[in-house]
Amino acid sequence: MKSAYIAGTGSFVPEEVVSNFALEKIVDTTDEWIRTRTGISERRVARQGECTSDLAARAARSALENAGLEARDLDLIITATVTPDMFFPSTGCMVQRKIGATRAAAFDISAACSGFIYALSIADQFIKNGQYENIMVLGADTLSKITDWTDRNTCVLFGDGAGAALLRATTDKDRGILSTHLYSDGTLAELLQIPAGGSFMPASEETLKKRLHYITMKGNETFKIAVKALTDSVQTALSHQGVSCEQVDLFIFHQANARIIQSVGERLSIPESKIPLTIGKYGNTSAASIPITLDELNREGKIQRGTLICMAAFGGGLTWASSMIRW
Ligand code: ACO
Repeated sequence: MKSAYIAGTGSFVPEEVVSNFALEKIVDTTDEWIRTRTGISERRVARQGECTSDLAARAARSALENAGLEARDLDLIITATVTPDMFFPSTGCMVQRKIGATRAAAFDISAACSGFIYALSIADQFIKNGQYENIMVLGADTLSKITDWTDRNTCVLFGDGAGAALLRATTDKDRGILSTHLYSDGTLAELLQIPAGGSFMPASEETLKKRLHYITMKGNETFKIAVKALTDSVQTALSHQGVSCEQVDLFIFHQANARIIQSVGERLSIPESKIPLTIGKYGNTSAASIPITLDELNREGKIQRGTLICMAAFGGGLTWASSMIRW
């Protein structure tokens, strides 16, 4: 049986930097509150007309280059996003068109901030069962487009970006995606959602007036559940592989809040040096946060053949997930 390994990574963030100080001018907040409560100093925001597939296509091209492959080599493109360009066609189809991946099938998956690990898991199955050889896995979101910029509870948290991992088939048993574990609890859907604009509550003058087509979040409740879900899913990943925290080289967590990540690190006694943080400069980029972090580490030479990586994410749905990878 074949297994899947990450042959290349890529990422892209929009040029425009929005600092906490800039947000002080539009909502009742301070740089100090945002930094101490979330770890965020600034975020990137897509310009008008710049959509999710634009960011994702840039990340995908960069991953192809990193892997030394051409777009026509791709069999499949899976895009994890909650900010698709439009309801349909899928953002994956838009990426396919932009990069010229003429042979590839393409679709999107919706699992909010856990989306990248969900997509990775799907790609892993397609490679293991022998159907595909080369799959582009994308986590891409432009949350700025669905953020209520008058709501200080949410607008300080999010940023835009895209990350890519190019999965290839290998017969080498010592490397690749070792495991993925996916979880959901739809009974907690109301903690984090966009109430209107879909089939449940189609967009109307009233939904626009009530600002129901923006993200709403019960942050404090979400925070507590996130810490437990991330801790549990990391423990599952470790015990499934029969390894301890000490044997893992890097823990890449979804970057929603530095305090969530620190709490998980403390509970599992993971040294800070093994937990990279990119939230300070990008905020919460949803499905993009893990692949962006992965790409930065890869390009900085902090990931080598044999590096053992545990990834874990948490987000709307509620959904959560973990994965163990041997580079
Ligand atoms: N500036 C200043 N004050 C603020 C701000 C702000 N931007 N936002 C909230 N406050 C105030 C609140 O109004 C509250 O004031 P009060 O005590 O007078 O009522 C006080 O700060 C504390 O509010 P809390 O909500 O208790 O603050 P908390 O420490 O929980 O931090 C935060 C809020 C950052 C949202 C945190 O709860 C969090 O990160 N939650 C989890 C987010 C998450 O993981 N989401 C999942 C992924 S996102 C996705 O899937 C798209």
